Amino acid sequence: MKADISITQILQSVSVHISEEGLEKELIIPLLELWGYQPGDWRRQIAAGSGRPDFIICANGMDEPHMNYLIIEVKAPKKKLKNHTWQLGTYLRQTHSIFGLLTNGLEFEIYYNNNLEIICLAHLDKKAFVDKFNILSKILGRQTCLLITRQLQSLHRSFHAKLYPRLRQIFPESRQIGSLLLPDPLQTSLKETKTVIITVFNNKGGVGKTTTTINVAAALSKLGKRVLLIDIDPQANLTTGLGINPLEDIELKSGKDVTHLLTEPKVKIEEVAISKRWQDVKLDIIPSHIRLSDMEATLIQMINSDQVLVRKLSKIGSAYDYIFIDTPPSFGKVNTISLMASDRVLIPTQLAPYPIRALEYVMNRIMAVHDARERPLSILGVVISMYSRLAVRQTREMLDEVDKVLQKHPMGREVRVFPEDTWIPQRNIVANSPAKGYPLSYAEWLSWTYGDQGLLRPESC
Ligand SMILES: Nc1ncnc2c1ncn2[C@@H]1O[C@H](COP(=O)(O)OP(=O)(O)O)[C@@H](O)[C@H]1O
Ligand SMILES: [Mg+2]
Repeated sequence: MKADISITQILQSVSVHISEEGLEKELIIPLLELWGYQPGDWRRQIAAGSGRPDFIICANGMDEPHMNYLIIEVKAPKKKLKNHTWQLGTYLRQTHSIFGLLTNGLEFEIYYNNNLEIICLAHLDKKAFVDKFNILSKILGRQTCLLITRQLQSLHRSFHAKLYPRLRQIFPESRQIGSLLLPDPLQTSLKETKTVIITVFNNKGGVGKTTTTINVAAALSKLGKRVLLIDIDPQANLTTGLGINPLEDIELKSGKDVTHLLTEPKVKIEEVAISKRWQDVKLDIIPSHIRLSDMEATLIQMINSDQVLVRKLSKIGSAYDYIFIDTPPSFGKVNTISLMASDRVLIPTQLAPYPIRALEYVMNRIMAVHDARERPLSILGVVISMYSRLAVRQTREMLDEVDKVLQKHPMGREVRVFPEDTWIPQRNIVANSPAKGYPLSYAEWLSWTYGDQGLLRPESC
C-alpha cells in the first residue's frame, strides 16, 4: 500500500491557493512518477490539434511508432472542471489519445476516448481518488500504457499490411495510395513530388480566402517552392491584391485572363500567367477580370466544362510544386471547375457564428464533388483567420461549434483544424497589404528595412 500512502502525502501537500503551474509540479509530475512514467514519457504544453494540452503521455520506446495514451489537463483549484471538459475532449480526439485526466487538485475526472466518442468514466473528489488509486494506477500507469499501445500498433500494422497491397492491386494507377499510411495531410503533401493543387474554398465571403491564398503562397515561395496562383473569382481581389492592374496589365498587354483560359479551348496556362517578384518571393498568377461574372451561362452550356481546368493543368507537367485556386464566395460553376481540378481543399474560416454555420454547406459541396470524381478529393484542413486573442471565451465556444459541425459530417471526422500557433490574427498590416499590391512577407520586409515610412520603398519588379 506504499502507493496509497504516497498519493495521500502528495495530495496533502497541495494547497487550495496553488497555481496551475504549481499543481503541475507538485501533483502531476509526482503522480506520473508513481505510475511508473519517466520524464521522457511526457511532453508538456506542446502544440497538438487546436491547442496545447498540459501533458501528453506516450511511453513508446524509441524504435516504435508514436502513439499517445493519456492527456492530462490541469486547472487551478478555484476553476470548475465542467467548464473545461470540452477542451479535454477536443485534445483527446485531436491527439487520438485513449485516456484523459482533468483535475484542479481537488477533483479528478477520468475520460475515455471510445473512437472519438468521449466518455466520462469517473468524477472523484480527493478521498475517492485515493480510494481508487490502485485500480487507476493499473489503468493509467506505464505498464498498461505500453501493453495497450503496443497491441494497438501491432493490430494497425497487421491490418494495413493486409489492406495496402490489396488496394494497390485494385487501384494501380493511384499515385496517392502511398499517402494512406501517412496520417498528417500537410506532411503528405510536402512529401509528394507531384504538383499539389489546392482549392481555397468557403462559400462565405470575407473569411480570409484571398488573404490566406496570397500569404501561404508567398511563404511557400520563400521556402523555395514554385507556386502558381489562379484567381477564379470575378471580383479579382487576388489579382489586384498582388498589384496586377486589370487595365494596364491585362487589357493593354496579353488581353487574356482566367475567363479566356476557361472558355477558349486553345488558350494555355503559359499565355495567361503573369510573373511577379518581391525580393525572395516569386509567384505566377493567372489573373481574373470582372468579365468572368458574365460567363456562368457559357460555362454551364460548354460540353465537359468541369474538366477544362483539369485538362489544362495536366499539360503543364510538374512546372509547379503548388497551385492554389482562389474561389468566389458562391457555389457557382467556377467553384465546381476548381474543385474538380484539385487534389486538396483548404477551408479558411473565422471563429464566428455565420462562417461556422457555412462550414456544413462547404463540406456538403466538397463531398458532392468528391463523389463525382474518379480521384479522391481530400480536405487539407480548416484554417482559422482573423482571430482575436482577446475573445478567449468566444474562441473556445466557436471551436467547440466547429468541432460539432465536423463531427456530424460524414467527411468531417478526419478533418483537422490547424493548430493554434497557425491561426492568423486580426491585424491592420494584413488588412492593408492587398491595397498596396504585395504579400505580407514583403510588407514585413519593407518595415524591417525602411521602418514605417512605406514611401521609401523600391518598386517591386
Ligand atoms: N488577418 C486579418 N487581419 C485583418 N484583416 C484581414 C485579415 N485577413 C483578411 N482581412 C481582411 O478581411 C477582408 C476579407 O478578407 P478576404 O481574404 O478578401 O476574404 P475572402 O477572400 O474570403 O472574401 C479583406 O478586406 C481583408 O483585407
Ligand atoms: Mg476572396
